[in-house]
Amino acid sequence: VPDDGRSQRLVGRHVLVTAGPTHEPIDPVRYIANRSSGKQGFAIAAAAARAGARVTLVAGPVNLPTPRGVDRIDVESAREMAAAVKGALPADVAIMVAAVADWRTSTVAEEKMKKRGSAPPALLLTENPDILASVAASAQRPPLLVGFAAETQDVILHAQEKRLRKQVDWIVANDVSGDVMGGDANAVHIIRADDVVSLPEMPKEDVARILVERIADALA
Ligand code: CTP
Ligand code: CA
Repeated sequence: VPDDGRSQRLVGRHVLVTAGPTHEPIDPVRYIANRSSGKQGFAIAAAAARAGARVTLVAGPVNLPTPRGVDRIDVESAREMAAAVKGALPADVAIMVAAVADWRTSTVAEEKMKKRGSAPPALLLTENPDILASVAASAQRPPLLVGFAAETQDVILHAQEKRLRKQVDWIVANDVSGDVMGGDANAVHIIRADDVVSLPEMPKEDVARILVERIADALA
């Protein structure tokens, strides 16, 4: 559904988006999570669909409706997200907005853990696969690979370092020290090899629209 005359710039393109948190199970009733709402990633998927792209949205557990024209794959854990992303490739651009849990428990209890009057359990953690870095290193690496970076300090510096470390084309950095996570507005810096584009705080839908325009420019 075109939203204005010059908006169908991604027709024929496949856009892959990840969004939301992941949940890492501890036992049948408990999990490790984070504050991601999925709003920014869903807004990007919606904007890409409005621009005419075929959009695959790999979504962690969120409470959001599927944007019109978007193929949605729901996942829970980081490892499920990694598998869904792999299965959705190839793509012309991948935008990894998800706040993937960095750690999961090294084992998942089969039964609910009980207090039993004893000491609290110590959770032994193990690192999750880095989905973005493995897509970057894969044979199916999209021509344009975009990561997000949630930082609470030295935002641009940390994001520039992340861009190089993960070997991605762009990192969209946001300062999450305020109430960005779960909120409706975002202020981001688009970190590229040769420049940094800093946008003022605006609704997540507007961030999405500008980012999709920049992506269309880059793919053109
Ligand atoms: N990411 C990912 N898989 C992970 C962790 C992160 O794909 N296991 C992706 C995110 O979707 C995001 C980017 O990597 O696009 C940066 O995530 P971030 O959490 O900022 O980076 P980390 O490498 O996990 O570093 P940090 O220690 O700052 O959390
Ligand atoms: Ca992380």
